[in-house]
Amino acid sequence: MTQPIYLGVNVDHVATIRQARGVRYPCPVHAALQAELAGADGITMHLREDRRHIQDADVERYFALRQTKLNFEMAATDEMRDIALSMVPEDVCLVPEKREELTTEGGLDVRGQQSRLKDYVAAFSEAGIHTSMFVDPDAAQIDACVAIGAPVIELHTGAYAECKDTASQQKELVKIQEAAAYAHSVGLVVNAGHGLTRDNVAAIAAIENMNELNIGHSLIADAVMMGLPQAVKTMKACMLAARSL
Ligand code: PXP
Repeated sequence: MTQPIYLGVNVDHVATIRQARGVRYPCPVHAALQAELAGADGITMHLREDRRHIQDADVERYFALRQTKLNFEMAATDEMRDIALSMVPEDVCLVPEKREELTTEGGLDVRGQQSRLKDYVAAFSEAGIHTSMFVDPDAAQIDACVAIGAPVIELHTGAYAECKDTASQQKELVKIQEAAAYAHSVGLVVNAGHGLTRDNVAAIAAIENMNELNIGHSLIADAVMMGLPQAVKTMKACMLAARSL
């Protein structure tokens, strides 16, 4: 039997296009609802400290209208914690955030800030939010996630996605496969994301026990060329095809 695998669509870059001109279009909430109709299993919005793409009102509107679930991506700051706790999304994904970065560049150092992050996980768990930690495929980070009581991890697939040759990509893939197997063996739900495209998603989707892939940039780029519903359907078909091999 084919194991299920879920697609979370990240709509941040719909907002990036809007913010580039300071206008009202395109609307990331509209995109999120269209993505849901096309088969997305959830929607990710990253409310960055500098509000460079998603705005507070986008999150509020989508949350009120959602048909699936909101994965609220955030840095571990007091401001974001308060927003998450006032809204109570289904999922929160904690990520590192640097003002100067183009996108989330590395995994969160859970190991180096266990006591601080433990408080976030505890507050969110108490509110009924599933907290995911965005980490590199590294056993020590996974152990730290377990130690602080996080129920979910999202493995950073950026290093895999950025490889320029097959041999190094294979090495990165093995790291993700091993990290996923280890994380599952210690009781974590395992998601993955970053830099995934129609061309590189299959090997990640094929990993046993992989629960959800969160995909943004390439999918929104595909949407420019083929329309968002078709981009969502195509990505999901790539994932499901890999799953049934
Ligand atoms: N998962 C996390 C935690 C991210 O920070 C991002 C980027 O915002 C993604 C997934 C999606 O990455 P991409 O836009 O490269 O598909």
